[in-house]
Amino acid sequence: MTSKKRDFLKFTDLTLDEHLGLFRRAAVLKKARRERRCVNTMNGRTLTMIFEKASTRTRLSFEAAMLQLGGSCIDLSAGNSQMSRGEPLPDTARVTGRYCDVVMMRTFADARIEEFAAHCEVPVINGLTDGGHPVQILTDLFTIEEKLGSVKGKTLAFIGDTASNMGRSFTRAAPIFGYQLKLASPKGYHPADDVVVPAKGFVTLLSDPKEAAKGADVVITDVWTSMGQEAESKQRLAELGAYQVNPDLMKLAQKHALFLHCLPAHREEEVTASVIDGPQSVVWDEAENRLHVQKALLEYLVLENERRQE
Ligand code: CP
Ligand code: NVA
Repeated sequence: MTSKKRDFLKFTDLTLDEHLGLFRRAAVLKKARRERRCVNTMNGRTLTMIFEKASTRTRLSFEAAMLQLGGSCIDLSAGNSQMSRGEPLPDTARVTGRYCDVVMMRTFADARIEEFAAHCEVPVINGLTDGGHPVQILTDLFTIEEKLGSVKGKTLAFIGDTASNMGRSFTRAAPIFGYQLKLASPKGYHPADDVVVPAKGFVTLLSDPKEAAKGADVVITDVWTSMGQEAESKQRLAELGAYQVNPDLMKLAQKHALFLHCLPAHREEEVTASVIDGPQSVVWDEAENRLHVQKALLEYLVLENERRQE
């Protein structure tokens, strides 16, 4: 097999044209599903999913996507595999690539998925790492474009723990899509320079959540304690307490402003129930869109990889 396969590990792994192509295809696939028309582009192909962290949406949406496209899916929970007994990751990656056509992996350090992808002969998709959640951001931008038109030139306010994987992927995507991103966090909760510097001119680091929300087209937040940070939960709750997205904050945004949250959410922590369950919230459409956008991504990576080998 060729070594030139493409992965989707970071938002910057695809160009703007490729991202926009995925949006167009996702819209077609969404319509087909609404009209109960079958699409069989993944017929005979297999996706392997490796989870080293918990998941509801990512597991469901990737598996449903593959099955609905006529393919099949294997869930390799890391705890039940030889990985948990110390088999080297490169060996697992090499054999996984011999059995399937594409891999989706959710893990901790970015270095781990990069190592896996380097030794796996088929495309590898990042289903969330400590450093990013690119399939979620791809879906979020698709959802914004669906509701408000092009995200280019829009103002997005991300409030809370903006150093989270969500905050980092939104920052990486800003110069590609050309939106203004306002990141409001207390000291120590903004993304580091390696993420912020490449997005210079598109990202503003703020400490005041009101300043971020003012005039925003979209208001976004994420949990205050991400998976793997449970030991810091009490401290995070105290330090992020003033960064809750509530109706007062939403009032400062544009009248048409959307509220986004990748879920799972903690009501009355990072967001009030009145906002997440209120009229500006699009979180259920956002969650559904994971299915359509990931179908487009699976098709793109798998079929492009097959063409390369012809
Ligand atoms: N948003 C998201 O990735 O959800 P899960 O953790 O449930 O997969
Ligand atoms: N930042 C969160 C996102 C969950 C989808 C976490 O990593 O737990």
